[in-house]
Amino acid sequence: MKKNNQALTLLAGLSAEQFFAEYWQKKPLLIRQAIPNFKPLLSIEALFALASRDDVESRLITYFKQHWEMKNGPLKTLPQKEKKDWTMLVQGVNLHDPAADALLREFRFAPDARLDDLMISYAREGGGVGPHFDSYDVFLLQAHGQRRWQISAQTDLSLIEGMPLKILSNFQCEQEFILEPGDMLYLPPHYAHDGVALGECMTYSIGFRSPSYQEMGESLMQFMADSIELPGRYADPDLKASKHPAEISAQMMDTIADELEKITFSREDIEIFIGEYLTEPKASVFFEAPKRALVPEQFIEKALSNGVRLSLKTQMLYQGKHVFINGESFTVGKRDKTSLGLLANQRSLNAQELSEASDDVLEAFCIWYEDGWLELMKKSSTAKK
Ligand code: SIN
Ligand code: CO
Repeated sequence: MKKNNQALTLLAGLSAEQFFAEYWQKKPLLIRQAIPNFKPLLSIEALFALASRDDVESRLITYFKQHWEMKNGPLKTLPQKEKKDWTMLVQGVNLHDPAADALLREFRFAPDARLDDLMISYAREGGGVGPHFDSYDVFLLQAHGQRRWQISAQTDLSLIEGMPLKILSNFQCEQEFILEPGDMLYLPPHYAHDGVALGECMTYSIGFRSPSYQEMGESLMQFMADSIELPGRYADPDLKASKHPAEISAQMMDTIADELEKITFSREDIEIFIGEYLTEPKASVFFEAPKRALVPEQFIEKALSNGVRLSLKTQMLYQGKHVFINGESFTVGKRDKTSLGLLANQRSLNAQELSEASDDVLEAFCIWYEDGWLELMKKSSTAKK
């Protein structure tokens, strides 16, 4: 694990600690050559191929004849390359490409619970998504060509109505930068920005997640709905003949309210909900089971010699005695917590680390392997991330 007080080229020579104290959620930071000699991780063809898949979120945004249009993927065709003023955005590239996953993990100075995904945009001259703001923090890494960023701390975040995408009605540029490959711009949430491609351009967005309380509250209600138990049914053996048939009697209200008020949830229920919620795969994520899965005995034998790693799509977190993986939770003892905590932090376990795992953990790994949540490593590795 990296030390938090180490100077990082990625953060303009600041340590993660300094970055969080001075910039995170506070002000923008332009980082020239955050990744020196950066080269795109995927070819343009590979990016187009991803955009055409139905298990990948993508969008095509055009500004032809000064008119914004947005089309959601899968994108089977794109505008002619000679045409200006269009961009294609591909979300969650890290879920499909190991190099993109490795780049996203460079930002693990922030916790996994806050890290969202790597989005790649491909634009032709003039292409962009218009002046807007995002609700989350973002690092905008220039990967190919040049992009001109205009940014503003303006508080007027009103949007033009009736647009297919969020466009600020009154964008007032305060600062402007031209980013070259390897340069990066950090923007806090709600910071107005407009990035325009100067020729063919690719920008990688390392995005963070910050779910709204409303969203989480609604999901908590759903979570509780799956676990409440309220036995019995309304009954009224003492019912009297009604004078006002449309009126709900106070007695009926009281009886039902007394029963429903028995619904409570504990702090532990909420903590389990939060972990499951934060590791829940997005709707577009499909896990792929191994083509010819080994039987459990073979899997364990191979795992103990090669090691295992989490699939690119797996989200794994923990807190206290609870371990969360892909929307499920487990309550574990100290020994299993050690193995599972190590797996969650390193996203892999080598043969030696696996030899410390209990039979229960190995059994869980068999199931996760069959479900495509975890994979066998090609060969044993002792290197830690
Ligand atoms: C882009 O890459 O074109 C859009 C990124 C952003 O503005 O958030
Ligand atoms: Co943005």
